[in-house]
Amino acid sequence: MYIKSLTLDYFRNYEHESIQLCPTINVFYGNNAQGKTNLLEAVYLFSNGRSHRAKSDRELIKFNKNLFSLNLEFCDANREYNMQMRVSKDGKKLIKVNNVGIKKLSMLMNYLNVVMFSPEDLDIIKGSPSVRRRFIDEAISQLYPKYLSNLINYQKTLAQKNSLLKNIKYSGTDTDNVLSAWNIQLAGYGSVIYKYRCDFISKLNDMSKPIHKDIADENFEIIYIPGIKLSDDNTEKSFLDTLEQNQKREIEAGTCLVGTHRDDLKLFVNDSEARVFGSQGQQRSCVLTLKIAETEYIKSIKDEYPVLLLDDIMSELDVNRRRYLWERITDKQVLLTCTDIDILNDRRNISLFKINGGKIIR
Ligand SMILES: Nc1ncnc2c1ncn2[C@@H]1O[C@H](COP(=O)(O)OP(=O)(O)O)[C@@H](O)[C@H]1O
Ligand SMILES: [Mg+2]
Repeated sequence: MYIKSLTLDYFRNYEHESIQLCPTINVFYGNNAQGKTNLLEAVYLFSNGRSHRAKSDRELIKFNKNLFSLNLEFCDANREYNMQMRVSKDGKKLIKVNNVGIKKLSMLMNYLNVVMFSPEDLDIIKGSPSVRRRFIDEAISQLYPKYLSNLINYQKTLAQKNSLLKNIKYSGTDTDNVLSAWNIQLAGYGSVIYKYRCDFISKLNDMSKPIHKDIADENFEIIYIPGIKLSDDNTEKSFLDTLEQNQKREIEAGTCLVGTHRDDLKLFVNDSEARVFGSQGQQRSCVLTLKIAETEYIKSIKDEYPVLLLDDIMSELDVNRRRYLWERITDKQVLLTCTDIDILNDRRNISLFKINGGKIIR
């Protein structure tokens, strides 16, 4: 699939800009703080519904304006799509796909697929478990609306259960029935999330191994560490049983102790954990492996490659890894940002755009 055009109105530091993209490599270059990442962020919004870095949609509205509006045209092997997004200061969000309004965020999923590569991805290795869960969620949500709706419902229910547990702990209110109602719901949503994650991680693990061999000539292994121990035959029942077994402990703690919200991944390089023992270079290779594997995963499900968003990562890679990445991306649509185009391996067949103070110069 590839993006044909993007129009931005009052988005971040852009006023009114419209660009046509080529189906191969599009390079956006310019000094720092000119709007390069903002551009990728706009594209990312259409694949995940929310920004990869902003806390709220309102941050995305140009200072002193009342709304932003984005328009993106893309096509896959079957047809062309037109997507619109508009967010106003009062928080109202309007999304349309081919002129039809989208009511739920999960309905936006599985149209445009992207994989973002950014320097912050190193946190997938070094950061807290929540960063790894976010990586998993982004990849699966884009493809499966059902996964995202279960995830949203799980999080809502979890927040309600957490405040109930706090209440019981501090005021001793006996609301056992409400607690078990939340547990039943969590088991329903959580078991769906669990199955999707098992499947995704197992496929990602298979796909990562040969990629990592090529990048670093090392063995690579991803292990799923579920936040709740489940038997495989009746996941939902086993989820509920485990929640009930832990009820007393959870009331004492005043918080939810078990569930998919405690899931994590462990990444191993030559049998030692990359987070603990990996050098910076090894950790960078792991991230690159994960992201390329995510790209291949999407291809295996959709039979098409996602659009790749490479934000300022070329300068972070050594010559060999840069060359490897370049070889892997030349047959896909790529939107790449950099401050210095000398870093590019090959400047044939690319579209160059200079970004300067929120203006795009072809
Ligand atoms: N809501 C906003 N309105 C206007 N300008 C913004 C807004 N959000 C960010 N900016 C500006 O965008 C610029 C950063 O853009 P960014 O795309 O991150 O830069 P880079 O080119 O380094 O990737 C900064 O100058 C920042 O002040
Ligand atoms: Mg940037």
